[in-house]
Amino acid sequence: MKRLVLFVLASALIVTSCGGRQESDLKNVDPRVDSLLNIMTLDEKIGQMVLFTSDWDVTGPTIREGYLDDIRSGRCGNVFNAYTVDYIRELQRVAVEESRLGIPLMFGYDVVHGHKTIFPIALGESCSWDLDLMRRSAAASAAEAAASGLNWTFAPMVDISVDPRWGRVSEGAGEDPYLGSLIAEARVKGFQGDDLADPLTVLACVKHFAAYGAPVAGRDYNTVDMSERQFREFYLPPYKAGVNAGALSVMTAFNEYDGVPATGNAYLLKDILKGEWNFQGFVVTDYTSINEMVHHGYARNDAEAGVKAVNAGVDMDLQGEVYFTYLRGLVESGIVSERTIDEAVRRILNVKEKLGLFDNPYLYCDSAREKEVVSDPEIKALSREVARKSMVLLKNNGCLPFDRGDRIAVIGELAASRRDLLGSWKAAGEWDDMSSILDAVRAYNGPANVIYAEGCRKMGDDRSGYAAAMDAVNKADKVLMVIGEDWDWSGEAASRTDIGVPGVQSELLRLIASTGKPVAVVLLNGRPLVLEEESKDADAILEAWYPGTMGAEAVTDVIFGLYNPSGKLTMTFPRNVGQVPIFYYEKNTGRPIYLPSEKYKSRYLDSPNDPLYPFGYGLSYTQFKYSDLTLSSSEMKKGSTIEAQVTVTNTGKWAGEETVQLYIRDMVGSVTRPVKLLKGFEKVILAPGESRKIKFVIDEDMLAFWRHDMTFGTEDGDFRVMVGGSSSDLLQTAFSLVP
Ligand code: BGC
Repeated sequence: MKRLVLFVLASALIVTSCGGRQESDLKNVDPRVDSLLNIMTLDEKIGQMVLFTSDWDVTGPTIREGYLDDIRSGRCGNVFNAYTVDYIRELQRVAVEESRLGIPLMFGYDVVHGHKTIFPIALGESCSWDLDLMRRSAAASAAEAAASGLNWTFAPMVDISVDPRWGRVSEGAGEDPYLGSLIAEARVKGFQGDDLADPLTVLACVKHFAAYGAPVAGRDYNTVDMSERQFREFYLPPYKAGVNAGALSVMTAFNEYDGVPATGNAYLLKDILKGEWNFQGFVVTDYTSINEMVHHGYARNDAEAGVKAVNAGVDMDLQGEVYFTYLRGLVESGIVSERTIDEAVRRILNVKEKLGLFDNPYLYCDSAREKEVVSDPEIKALSREVARKSMVLLKNNGCLPFDRGDRIAVIGELAASRRDLLGSWKAAGEWDDMSSILDAVRAYNGPANVIYAEGCRKMGDDRSGYAAAMDAVNKADKVLMVIGEDWDWSGEAASRTDIGVPGVQSELLRLIASTGKPVAVVLLNGRPLVLEEESKDADAILEAWYPGTMGAEAVTDVIFGLYNPSGKLTMTFPRNVGQVPIFYYEKNTGRPIYLPSEKYKSRYLDSPNDPLYPFGYGLSYTQFKYSDLTLSSSEMKKGSTIEAQVTVTNTGKWAGEETVQLYIRDMVGSVTRPVKLLKGFEKVILAPGESRKIKFVIDEDMLAFWRHDMTFGTEDGDFRVMVGGSSSDLLQTAFSLVP
């Protein structure tokens, strides 16, 4: 700490003698930042713009060793993929005690859905539509991460996607920009809390900027090409919401936008992010994405890529070694201005100051806190609650819930798996002490009432276990079959062209279903799957996603009725991969299908247009009826509001939670508008027989869009209002917006 103290004192003097900081885009910068900047060598400045992986964990190609020496020389100012207080304290000690200026390191990690205690994957969690719950799960993940020495998470991932072939849909919040924005805000607030210098919060990183979720053909890292109107209306809002919520770091994307790789795209980073949105934090690249601009064909070599990145507004190079290797020479030869470097370093140091690292570099390194917070039973309990609320009941003909004591055949390799429950970003999560679904069902239902047979593997075509599975089924009253994708088949670099259930799992399901025994399927997967056949064969389907550390217990809670499922899909499930991309906010086209027998319409010859399970859909063990949708007025004056009201009644036998959804359609515009757009929702818990009136205030913001002249605002005219429990099952009424 000695050196740091020295530098703080020295820098205070320099502030006085230099008369304050240089001109900058940043507001409210702590004076210590500029003081420090004034005494840094060029190498030390560039060091702050460098982020290297430790050898603790690997999340991409490791191209550099010996980063400890780089920390010592001040040439590496940030580290990722390291955790635990002991390890981080040691790295921080090298930076603070052994480097010339003692500037503390920032420590990042992919705490995407949990650190030690893993929560359901982000896509699953989004199906809870419970913003406070998502804020709390992000806060709990932040607390565990921060208690392990970290102060920066590479999350939330807020990329909108309408393409389930893309494996990274598992990390996001689904297809809807409105819901996605609210979730981005909730997660940023959860990670960062009210004070970044609170040692139980971490810096959030909104990623991947921008439009990474729209790669052509759903192939990861592929080209993105869309109109600016589409981009601004459907893809940008969640990034903006994350920035507005206070996120002080943003990660670039691997893809290009409008022909320019995102990491060299000044329009994205300077004009939109740092300009229009006045972003005050720093921009970090994705893993080696500066170097990749050479492969994109946007730079002849790494040095040129570095020039393009830094001039486009990239402040920090993640693992690419481009800034590390070339930036000094580029500045010395006048190709890159030192002012550009200063501005980047100022942004980075400013965040370090806000993290409290200048006051105490070891703020996040408290072993007692680590012991107390990491794997705290309350965090585990929260993880179980989130998992229950994330699950979506896709089908149920009365087979679920099971009764305790039923003789149940449990089938499937995934039923006995622990690792798969965590999904692809497992951070520091471990699975040895977790329950598999089989363990949890045995524990609740009594081992004597559970007969397990693997039946088949999650991948491959080995049918040798079929006979044992059929034997188990014959001895049981009911069947629980757990099928889905291997954990590594969703997530990064996990695109698929066939998004059916892999291997022979569905074939075995059909065989089992043919016995007539009631079969409930639990799905473990990270993307919408094609389930046409499974939806016929199974009596019930529970979409459990990758539900996390307490996922097995949560599945058991739902299948035995200890929790009544309430999740609603945030991504459309297609009938077949040919329908992809598919999403609820489509346009009507000039040839919509009004008459099923017409030929020259916007339709397929071999498939319906509608999906198997639409956005917003999800069943409960009870039923909800919607009635009496009314508006307070059939006209809304510009600048004022009107109110929509609907009655929701629980007509079933169970208490249950419903998500009441409001959609609006602008009937005619200067550009065509989607057939519906989500504009509000409310969650309500109703006892059997109970009714509740739900009100939505409709204001002008909800009607605004990017008009033909690319201004954002409303246009007078007619609007349709739709309310219901799914995007495809809605009551409707109408009003006009008048001057
Ligand atoms: C991913 C990012 C991640 C980074 C660091 C990249 O490959 O695209 O989402 O934050 O690695 O692990």
